[in-house]
Amino acid sequence: MRTPLVAANWKMNGSREFAEQFFTALDVKGAGCTVVICPPYPYLPLVAEKAGDDIAVGAQNLSQEASGAFTGEVSAAMLLDWKVDYAIVGHSERRSLYGEGSELVARKFVAAQAAGLIPILCVGETLQEREDGRALDVIAAQLQAVKDAAEGDIWDRAVIAYEPVWAIGTGKTATPEQAQEVHRFIRENLGESGAAVQILYGGSVKAANAEALFAQADIDGALVGGASLDAEEFARICRAA
Ligand code: G3P
Repeated sequence: MRTPLVAANWKMNGSREFAEQFFTALDVKGAGCTVVICPPYPYLPLVAEKAGDDIAVGAQNLSQEASGAFTGEVSAAMLLDWKVDYAIVGHSERRSLYGEGSELVARKFVAAQAAGLIPILCVGETLQEREDGRALDVIAAQLQAVKDAAEGDIWDRAVIAYEPVWAIGTGKTATPEQAQEVHRFIRENLGESGAAVQILYGGSVKAANAEALFAQADIDGALVGGASLDAEEFARICRAA
């Protein structure tokens, strides 16, 4: 049985005041899912303090390097200093805006696990790739890069997020059936390891569409962007899981 997980990806949004007010308003007591908040780096200490024991903390990225002359980078060890449990790797914005290819994403995945963090591996296709009928090929290649780089039973310490790029921030949510088809493909692609891995859906998740998505057999939760900036809306999504 996979525990549902709902993660908030604040992206480059928020402030100290926002984070304080968010946790004042957030009520996820009794929600039957793991709740993860992924703020921008500067707010990790504050979020870690406010999250307490009931909410997990995640980073939106991390360096594939352990330490050294990598200006501007943040290592897995630094994240562990602030009670971070999860680290998003390979978000489509990192891939498209910052040129992170699947090989680099795989190295970040390995670095996260090596430090004891749980990577949230983002995979997903662009609208053009979907229209060309290549969505599943693209996702298989993104998964393969991690399989090639990592060793052992890696999927029992990882989470996967399917985020169709064409649904991110657009209001165009994938239908539950579209999402389920890809989630089933991902689970089968991982073979025996796939049975236990949590596979989240991300892309314009709102309280209004969350229940139908979570009703799908292979959708184990959500990676929420815009809607996670509203504590009450985000709590409604968590309660739908
Ligand atoms: O990582 C989650 C994010 O990419 C989804 O964004 O605003 O479509 O929920 P949004």
